[in-house]
Amino acid sequence: MLHGFVLFGLCFWRLVGVIGVEADEIESLSVMEGDSVTLPTGVSKIQEDDLIMWMSGNYCIAKLNISSQVITETHDIFRDRLKLDDQTGSLTITNIRTTDSGLYKAQMIGQQVSKKTFNVTVIARLPVPVITSYCPQNPSPSGSSPSRCVLMCSVLNLGHVTLSWYKGNSLLSSISVSDLSISLSLPLEVEYQDKNSYSCVINNPFSNQTQHLDITQLCQPCSGILAQENIKDDPHAQGSSYIAASYVKHLESAGARVVPIHINRTEEEYEKLFNAINGLLLPGGNVDIEKSQFTRAARIFYELAIKANDASDYFPIWGTCQGFQQLTVLTSNKNLLTLTDTKAVALPLTFSPGAQNSRLFKKFPKDVLQSLSEENITSNFHSWSLSIQNYSSNAKLKRFYRVLTTNTDGKKEFISTMEAYQYPFYAVQWHPEKSPFEWIEKDGMVHTLSAIKATFYTAHFFVSEAMKNHHQFSSQSEEEKALIYNYQPVFKGMNSIFLQNYYFD
Ligand SMILES: *[C@@H]1O[C@H](CO)[C@@H](O)[C@H](O)[C@H]1NC(C)=O
Ligand SMILES: *[C@@H]1O[C@H](CO)[C@@H](O)[C@H](O)[C@H]1NC(C)=O
Ligand SMILES: *[C@@H]1O[C@H](CO)[C@@H](O)[C@H](O)[C@H]1NC(C)=O
Ligand SMILES: *[C@@H]1O[C@H](CO)[C@@H](O)[C@H](O)[C@H]1NC(C)=O
Ligand SMILES: *[C@@H]1O[C@H](CO)[C@@H](O)[C@H](O)[C@H]1NC(C)=O
Ligand SMILES: *[C@@H]1O[C@H](CO)[C@@H](O)[C@H](O)[C@H]1NC(C)=O
Repeated sequence: MLHGFVLFGLCFWRLVGVIGVEADEIESLSVMEGDSVTLPTGVSKIQEDDLIMWMSGNYCIAKLNISSQVITETHDIFRDRLKLDDQTGSLTITNIRTTDSGLYKAQMIGQQVSKKTFNVTVIARLPVPVITSYCPQNPSPSGSSPSRCVLMCSVLNLGHVTLSWYKGNSLLSSISVSDLSISLSLPLEVEYQDKNSYSCVINNPFSNQTQHLDITQLCQPCSGILAQENIKDDPHAQGSSYIAASYVKHLESAGARVVPIHINRTEEEYEKLFNAINGLLLPGGNVDIEKSQFTRAARIFYELAIKANDASDYFPIWGTCQGFQQLTVLTSNKNLLTLTDTKAVALPLTFSPGAQNSRLFKKFPKDVLQSLSEENITSNFHSWSLSIQNYSSNAKLKRFYRVLTTNTDGKKEFISTMEAYQYPFYAVQWHPEKSPFEWIEKDGMVHTLSAIKATFYTAHFFVSEAMKNHHQFSSQSEEEKALIYNYQPVFKGMNSIFLQNYYFD
C-alpha cells in the first residue's frame, strides 16, 4: 500500500511538472469488453533517461524508467492487465472492462516533454440470446396447427438493443427497445420438420450476438411408456411393475425422452401426466389385458387421447404386441383374440393394398419397405392374435382401424400392423424394438441391418407423430423428476427375454 502511495505521489509531482505544455489532441478509441487495446505513445524508441508514466483519470497506473528498466504497475484495478512496451512505452490493457472507459494520458519526460491523451470507450458485450421452446398447453387461438413448435428468443435487462429472428440471411421479425427493460422476448413458430436454419440475433450499434436454433434439440417430445405388473417369478424383480429397457432405447434412438408411466396411480395423476407427455407407447408383455392395472392405466390414457384428438390436440398412441392386443380390447370393449402358432418366429409382412401409402409407412424408404415385405425380419412372440375374421366381424374394430399388414401362422390369418383411420393410433403385433436391443438366442430374433433399419423407421415415425402436440411439463424440474433417467435398469442376463428391465414401486 505504501509503495503504491509513494508512486502515486511521484506521478502527481511529474504531472505538475508538465503543466503548461499545450493541450494535445484527444484520440478516441472504441474497444469491445474483454478485448485488449494498445495505446501507442507514437515514439519508436524512447531515450535512455526517459521516464514514461501512464495516467488513468488522475491516477498513475504504470510507469517505465528506461535507465533502470523498471516497469511498475501501481493501481490495483489493473492488476495483471497492463503491459508496457519497454521500447516504445506503449500501454496495452488486456481483458478490458466497461469500467475502464475514460481518459488515458501518457507523460513522456526526457529531453523533451510530451504527452498523449486517449479517450477509451469500452463497449459492453451483448449477452448471447437464449432460445427456449414455449409450447402452450392448448393450440393457440390463432389456430396454429399442432405440428408447430413455438420458440421464444429472450435477453435480459439491456437498453438500446434490437432482437431479431433470421431465417438464413433474411429477417423474419424484430423488436427494439430504447430503455432498460426487464427482458425482451420475440416468438417464432416453426414446423417440427423444418430444415431451414434459424437464428436469433441481438444487436446494438456496436455489436451483435447470434444464437442458432437447433430445432431437433429444442422441439423434442417426451413419450410415456406404460409400466406393467411384474412377470410372476421374475428373479430380478424389484417392486411391483416394470418396463423392458428395449422400449426405452427404441424411442430414445429416434430422439425422444422417455417418461415411465407407473401403474396404480389416480386418474388425476394420469390426466396431469397426459398433458405433460407427447405420446404413449403400450409395450409388449404378459398381463391380463382386461383386468390388470396396466389395462386400467391404458384405458384412462386411451380415453384422454380420444378426447384430445377430437379437440384437435394430436396425441399418438403406439401399441406393440401386448400393446396391440390392448388397443383392440380398448376399442371394441371385447377380447376378440384367438390363439395362433406365432411364438418365436420371424416373418415378412404381407402389405394390404395401398398400405405403403398409409401414414405409418409412406415415409419409409423403399428399401426398408421391400425388406419388410420380403425378408423374415419382423419378430413375433405372441400366442394371441386378432384374426382377420374377428376383425371383419366386429363393427367397432373395422370402423376404427385400417389393416396395413397381415400374417399367417399357416392356418389363421391375423393382423400384424394397423393404424386408426381417425386417430394417430398405431399397433404392431411384431416387435420392432427387439432387433437392435434384445439378444436372447431364440428363433424369431433377427439382428440384420434391414431389421435394424426397419426398427429405426418405426421409432422415428412414432417420435415424429409425438412432435405434433404442445403438451409439456409445468416446469423443468417437474420434467426432470418424471424422466426415466431417475431409474437404473437391471441386467437380467443374456438368456432373459428382456435383457434389462426398469423396475418401479
Ligand atoms: C530512473 O532510474 C535511474 C537509475 O536507477 C534513477 O537514477 C532515476 O532517478 C530514475 N528516475 C526516476 C524519475 O525515477
Ligand atoms: C470520450 O468519449 C465519450 C464517448 O464516446 C464521450 O461521451 C466523452 O465526452 C469523451 N470525453 C472526452 C473528454 O472527450
Ligand atoms: C454482426 O456483426 C458482424 C461483425 O462483428 C457483422 O459482420 C454482421 O453483419 C453482424 N450481423 C448482424 C445481423 O447485424
Ligand atoms: C392400487 O393397487 C391396490 C392393490 O392392488 C388397490 O387396492 C388400489 O385400489 C390401487 N389403486 C389405484 C389408484 O388403482
Ligand atoms: C373370435 O373371438 C372369439 C372371442 O370372442 C374367440 O373365441 C375366437 O377364437 C375368435 N375367432 C377367430 C377366428 O379369431
Ligand atoms: C422365412 O421363413 C420361412 C419359414 O418360417 C422360410 O420358409 C423362408 O424361406 C424364409 N424366407 C427367407 C427369405 O428367409
